[in-house]
Amino acid sequence: MCGIVGYVGFRDATDLLIEGLRRLEYRGYDSAGIAIHQGDRIECRKRAGRVQELEKLLESDPISGSVGIGHTRWATHGETTDVNSHPHVGGNGEVVIVHNGVIENYSTLRTKLQALGFVFRSQTDTEVVAHLLAHHVEEQLKLSDDAEGTEIYVRALEITISKLKGTYGIVAMFRDLPDVIIAARAGSPLVVGVGKGEYYVASDASPLVGYTDEVIYLQDHEMVVLTTTSIDLRHRDSGQLSPNIHTLDQVSTDTDLGDFEHYMLKEIFEQPQTIANAMRGRFNEDEATAVFGGLNLDPQQLRRIDRIVLTACGTSWHAGLVGEYLLEEFARVPTEVEYASELRYRNPPLEDNTMVFAITQSGETADTLAALRECKRKGHPTLAICNVVGSTIAREADGGIYLHAGPEVGVASTKAFTSQVTVLTLLALFFGRMRHLSYPAGKRMISRLKEMPEIIERTLKCNEVVEEISSRYSQFNNFLYLGRLYNFPVALEGALKLKEISYIHAEGYPAAEMKHGPIALVDEVTPSVFVIPRGGIYPKVMSNLEEVKARKGPVIAIACEGDTKVADLVDDVIFVPDVEDYLQPLVTSIPLQLLSYYIAVNRGCNVDRPRNLAKSVTVE
Ligand code: M6R
Repeated sequence: MCGIVGYVGFRDATDLLIEGLRRLEYRGYDSAGIAIHQGDRIECRKRAGRVQELEKLLESDPISGSVGIGHTRWATHGETTDVNSHPHVGGNGEVVIVHNGVIENYSTLRTKLQALGFVFRSQTDTEVVAHLLAHHVEEQLKLSDDAEGTEIYVRALEITISKLKGTYGIVAMFRDLPDVIIAARAGSPLVVGVGKGEYYVASDASPLVGYTDEVIYLQDHEMVVLTTTSIDLRHRDSGQLSPNIHTLDQVSTDTDLGDFEHYMLKEIFEQPQTIANAMRGRFNEDEATAVFGGLNLDPQQLRRIDRIVLTACGTSWHAGLVGEYLLEEFARVPTEVEYASELRYRNPPLEDNTMVFAITQSGETADTLAALRECKRKGHPTLAICNVVGSTIAREADGGIYLHAGPEVGVASTKAFTSQVTVLTLLALFFGRMRHLSYPAGKRMISRLKEMPEIIERTLKCNEVVEEISSRYSQFNNFLYLGRLYNFPVALEGALKLKEISYIHAEGYPAAEMKHGPIALVDEVTPSVFVIPRGGIYPKVMSNLEEVKARKGPVIAIACEGDTKVADLVDDVIFVPDVEDYLQPLVTSIPLQLLSYYIAVNRGCNVDRPRNLAKSVTVE
């Protein structure tokens, strides 16, 4: 995780870096820091806590200059203290670096450097890189007559990174090289912004928006040397390269909170619009199917696909589970959902005609990226279902489908989930119409899907009821979330939402599995949230609900409007519109998002920035 930003040019680097760090805070918000070149030295300011803490420090102890680097941290090694914050200084201030990634052999390197006399101030793996680099700069200087030559520093960084095991995006500055920053990557994303008389480098393009729309995406094992007037790009194996400059697609930084108190609530309420955006331009009414612009596969290739693997993490994995049910029901294509963190190291037999979809809001999740690369290496067509335009996964997949949900700022994913489910429904229609799904069935799906934005608008009317109910449940410490078929992934997602923002223990289960163990947890202080809309499996879930009531467990039910049978049985009911089974996740997930939101607010939790988490998980 962690966000990096660097600048060399003519502007005031301090303001620019701070603004960049604010835009990158979704990658981690344990601490923030910047370093600015001051002619004969590099000055650092860093603070545990959010970027605003760093801003306060800079007000009382300012620095300025036109060359600098900055970092916002998600702690991997060492607690969230000022001293563990980045930037980290190597040697006696000759080198200053920021780093995103994990250095797996840091302990061995640290011991060696300590034996050489280097003194460590922090517990981070990054400080090892800073000292190692300072060590190699010193060595290279001894071997050379040209103490100012940039090549010495480049060579020192090359030797340093050749000794690292793990992942890194590094940006380095050198005390004796005032107008240069050098960036290198292996496994952690870095993008260079090309300006006039200035260059930027950052973990993603968001800090560059408004400054330049010309970008170079660094690839693994590339290094770039930036001055105000030059860019020198090289690859570890192939040497000097000419940069491939891309024009930035519209990256939206529209993150205005409007009248909402938190981004999470704002994003929940955006769902009628985001679901509409996910469908816009994607229906072919004449052929009763869906259309996608970016699959990059011809119809013959698509028809040959006889197995689909959906891989993802967290909420995106839950969307994948809904996708499995959809694709198998409508397209009759055997589909599996794999945790990306497992798939990257597992070696499942994947037949030739297996297509792999990576589902990811950010497009930067390290495990999902690694799983995608592993499947690509084995020759499978890979596609991304992704929200962030131009993200690493969007670029590396063979093709893809964007969610068009706009920036999701709240760490708890909400609108991305429903957009992912919408796109997966369209995919089920698309593959279904290539196989067994009839024309009338395709037509019916399209008209049902088109109704969804308005239905979601209606669903959101449960907001007040959910807020009122939440006040009675905020003090409980354990919850069960139960649902079946399409609502089983919804139960998992509801439990995840509650865990991550209110720190309450919650478990999601298929409702019928409960009697195989979890029912032992049911008592007067363990509420169960039953997702029980009408539909094929309704009577069965009703029996499961009765079993919980028989054991005095409090029950909140998510039920269809007018369902008095459920209402009479449970302690609290939240009504949602009645839709066909396969569309239920779009509707039933919404009261669960709201429930976790209000419980977290009642408990005084930081809803948008929950402890220990980051929006984008860019380490393993
Ligand atoms: O950006 P991605 O969709 O790849 O992120 C995957 C998970 O890290 C993410 O969904 C996480 O579980 C959310 N915080 C859940 O709300």
